[in-house]
Amino acid sequence: MTETRAPDGDALSWEDLAAEARSARERAHAPYSRFAVGAVLEADDGRVFAGCNVESASYPVGTCAERVALGHAVVSGARSFRRLVVATGAPVAASPCGMCRQALAEFGLELEIMSVTLNGAAATWRLGELLPASFGPEQLTAAPEAGS
Ligand code: THU
Repeated sequence: MTETRAPDGDALSWEDLAAEARSARERAHAPYSRFAVGAVLEADDGRVFAGCNVESASYPVGTCAERVALGHAVVSGARSFRRLVVATGAPVAASPCGMCRQALAEFGLELEIMSVTLNGAAATWRLGELLPASFGPEQLTAAPEAGS
C-alpha cells in the first residue's frame, strides 16, 4: 500500500483507518523489540498514509511507525492532517511516544489520535492533550539572531 483514499470522496470511518493501521502493523520490521506497530495518518484532503516501525541492528536508529507515516505523507505532498490511528499488540491502548508527539506537533496540535489494540481496546486524544505547552515553529520566530 502506498496511500489510500475513500473511493467516493467520503471520509473513511475510524474502523476503516484502524484496519489500515493493523495492516501496516503486519509489515513492521521489529525483530529486536518484537513490538510491532502500525500507523496511518489521514490528510485533510482524505489521503491516508501508512507507516510501521522500522528497527535496526544499531538499536537507536530504529524509527517509530508514526514518524514513518509522517515522512510518507510529507514526501507525498501532504502538510495538513486530521486523524492518526496507531495499532499495537499491547494489552492496553498505547499512546505515541514523546518524540513522535513532537514530530507530529510540527503540523498542528488539533490532530485527533486513536490507538487500538488487537484485543479491541482503544483510546483517543487530541495531540495538544498529549503534548501540552509544546515547543512549536511559532517560537522560532521570536529567536534572537544567531550569535547574540
Ligand atoms: N514504537 C512505535 O512505533 N511507536 C510508538 O509510539 C512507541 C514505540 C516502536 C519503537 C520500537 O520499534 C518498538 O515500538 C518498541 O519500543
